[in-house]
Amino acid sequence: MTAAPDQDMSGSLPEFPGVRAAACPFDPPPALQALRQDAPLTRARLRDGGTVWLVTGYAEQKAVLSHPQVSSDVTRPGYPLPVLAPNRPDSAISFVFMDDPEHHRLRRMVQGAFTVKRVESMRPAVQRIVDRLIDDLLAGPRPVDLVEAFALPVPSLVICELLGVPYADHGFFQDNSQIIVKRDVSVEDRTAAGGRLRQYLDGLVGDKLVRPGDDLLSQVAARVTAGELTRQEAAQMGVLLLVAGHETTANMIALGTLALLRHPGQLALLRGSDDPALIAGAVEELLRYLNITHGGRRRVAKEDIEIGGQVIRAGEGIIVANDIGNRDPGIFPAPDELDVRRDARRHVAFGFGVHQCLGQPLARLELQVAYGTLYRRIPTLALATEFEKIPFKHDGQVYGVYELPVTW
Ligand code: HEM
Repeated sequence: MTAAPDQDMSGSLPEFPGVRAAACPFDPPPALQALRQDAPLTRARLRDGGTVWLVTGYAEQKAVLSHPQVSSDVTRPGYPLPVLAPNRPDSAISFVFMDDPEHHRLRRMVQGAFTVKRVESMRPAVQRIVDRLIDDLLAGPRPVDLVEAFALPVPSLVICELLGVPYADHGFFQDNSQIIVKRDVSVEDRTAAGGRLRQYLDGLVGDKLVRPGDDLLSQVAARVTAGELTRQEAAQMGVLLLVAGHETTANMIALGTLALLRHPGQLALLRGSDDPALIAGAVEELLRYLNITHGGRRRVAKEDIEIGGQVIRAGEGIIVANDIGNRDPGIFPAPDELDVRRDARRHVAFGFGVHQCLGQPLARLELQVAYGTLYRRIPTLALATEFEKIPFKHDGQVYGVYELPVTW
């Protein structure tokens, strides 16, 4: 067992986040990939000068994320904030940044809407949304930006329908979500964007209190009436579900399409098949290979704990780089290859432990319908620009592309 170093601010420490190689922007930073083999749990330096424990080994990642003494509480001293943030009022903290029992109390209020069975009943509606957007694409001009015309509207329309948020407001909530998930935004701008979204959701919760509909936000509002939830908690829950519900999936649709266009053999397998098992497997593999939550799962130790032969002291910050964990050759042979026929189901792209993605059945459904329909209906889909000119979201907390010009 190695004792944790108390002072390790030296410049020799690896830096997080590292830099992705221009040649393959689908791969995690090579310098960090090398750590997985040599130092799966090690000290690393953050750009703001702080130090954290960086976890790159798959087994160590699962051990950290399921450890009862590892906290997601963003207000705990030592928590490695992804971006500079001011002190937030309690009403502005989502349950993803809380520990049990508070986290469990809030998560349980909405988890019924995300069971596999409930989500599966939405398949025909999601298929209709995807088909209509593809009809519009085929009837419209070429080239077109696939992010704006397809990747963003699919999950935005779906989450609006589920929550009972008017889709007419999509420009407003997409713009403000973008500000929240960008790294190089000033604290003031991010706080203001969060405030605007909270105010908007608070207004909607107010409407649902008076005129409830058949939607999730109305169910959340009913908890306010029952005294189980404060109105601020309800509004913040709405912000979390709205932002998480469209940002991530939109990036997966666009980046997944780009990855497939760069791997024509893999794309041909998907295009030529309507086998639900192959499409579902391809979704898991793209989630593993692309792992868009590249800012890592952030945690802080509540007590001294020992994992992977290292002692993490109480109050020390931890970053679990799940994109690198998903490239562990001991779990996924030839991990840097995109292979839609492999069994990728053990990936950690949705996290692990009590905070594992609540919306994963919905994300899977949307991706299955989107990938399973787009390439079949537009078999000649192709990039309408040079690969080198595509703007990647290196500066985002969620990875993806800002634009994807395509033609057919
Ligand atoms: C491909 C799309 C998606 C990816 C890659 C993704 C990824 C993740 C990850 C990695 C976490 C764990 C956070 C942590 O451990 O700190 C998470 C949590 C969460 N996700 Fe997703 N997500 C996706 C789609 C969605 C959708 C569609 C929703 C629907 C509303 C959603 C709602 C949530 C919520 C509410 C949490 C917090 C869970 C908790 O703390 O208990 N996500 N997601």
